[in-house]
Amino acid sequence: MTETAERRSTRGAANQAGARVNKDAYAQAADFLPLKGIDHVEFWVGNARQAAAYYRALWGFGPVAFAGLETKVRDRASYVMVQNGIRFVFTAPLTPEGEIADHVRLHGDGVHDIAFAVDDVESAWRETTGRGAVGVLPPAEADGGADGVLRRATIRTYGETVHSFIDRSSYHGLFAPGYRAVKRPARAATGLSLLEVDHCVGNVGLGEMDTFVDFYRDVLGFAQLIHYDDKVIHTEYSALMSKVMTNGSGRIKFPINEPAAGKKKSQIQEFLDWYLSPGCQHIALRTEDIVTTVRRLRDNGVEFLGLPHEYYAGLAERVGDVGVPIDTLEELGIEADRDEEGYLLQIFTRPVQDRPTFFFEIIERHGSRGFGVGNFKALFEAIEREQANRGNL
Ligand code: FE2
Repeated sequence: MTETAERRSTRGAANQAGARVNKDAYAQAADFLPLKGIDHVEFWVGNARQAAAYYRALWGFGPVAFAGLETKVRDRASYVMVQNGIRFVFTAPLTPEGEIADHVRLHGDGVHDIAFAVDDVESAWRETTGRGAVGVLPPAEADGGADGVLRRATIRTYGETVHSFIDRSSYHGLFAPGYRAVKRPARAATGLSLLEVDHCVGNVGLGEMDTFVDFYRDVLGFAQLIHYDDKVIHTEYSALMSKVMTNGSGRIKFPINEPAAGKKKSQIQEFLDWYLSPGCQHIALRTEDIVTTVRRLRDNGVEFLGLPHEYYAGLAERVGDVGVPIDTLEELGIEADRDEEGYLLQIFTRPVQDRPTFFFEIIERHGSRGFGVGNFKALFEAIEREQANRGNL
């Protein structure tokens, strides 16, 4: 794979140094594994009923399907929640034994499965396991009776996280066989416009980033889009390195982070210390109205990282017109960044469970396909203030 020249930008050029963009990434992605998109993300949590209520009442996800004791499932309860093109499943164990209880005891609440939509599960399984993927569940058909059959298979990725391949072409029921519709669903929060998963970030251990870069390239046919080294992602105290992998359509983007040496503890190391293995650090949800969405999320009680006034004092100079008054960005804590393709607006929540592990990003893109590299330093300093409050810096 050829690394191309450094990304240049008329604004914020200093911030871009150390970010190497591979403009040929989409063409380099191999086509042995056509992925149509992210079918769903499944979280394994301690209490799925309450997680579902949180995502309904604060985040505006509508409950669409349920599986549990009432559907003759004896070991787990699962709630399927949907908003536009985003489908989340929250699953909790009903007994102290088994893989879900083990997962929750070790990791706390977290992402278990980032599932891909595919046309051919058999082929996806054959192509990936043939290239070295560790299989978890071989191809199987779940019989939905009159609703048809759902085909799926599952492979491992970093830590205990997995990727399922899902083929819905012969299935016309709710989420999957065994699920039933939610009767009289409580009303979801309104006024939010979260549209789709923009990217999913994996945190891996020191020295493991390239292992998983190789995995996504060689086993899943992704290509490397960007390399941020520890010269670009650092503060006075800590640093990390990140490479962004993309599939051929650009619809699935997985940045992979590893900690780098610094005077104090990297936020990636804090995640690893509390998740107790590599895992999914954050999922970015794309919106086309970040101002209204973040205002509503804040009103509903979602907590976001705060940036200091100094960040906003220099923002107009750095990014120019981003369609929203700087005062409004500061009021809501939204960040902005610009590269040669356009600009983006983004904001990060605080961790959404008790452990300082998984969080969300909200992102609104206007041409930019980047990840807000110009904000990394201010963002990581904000995270370090929170790490210090937790006694984890
Ligand atoms: Fe992100």
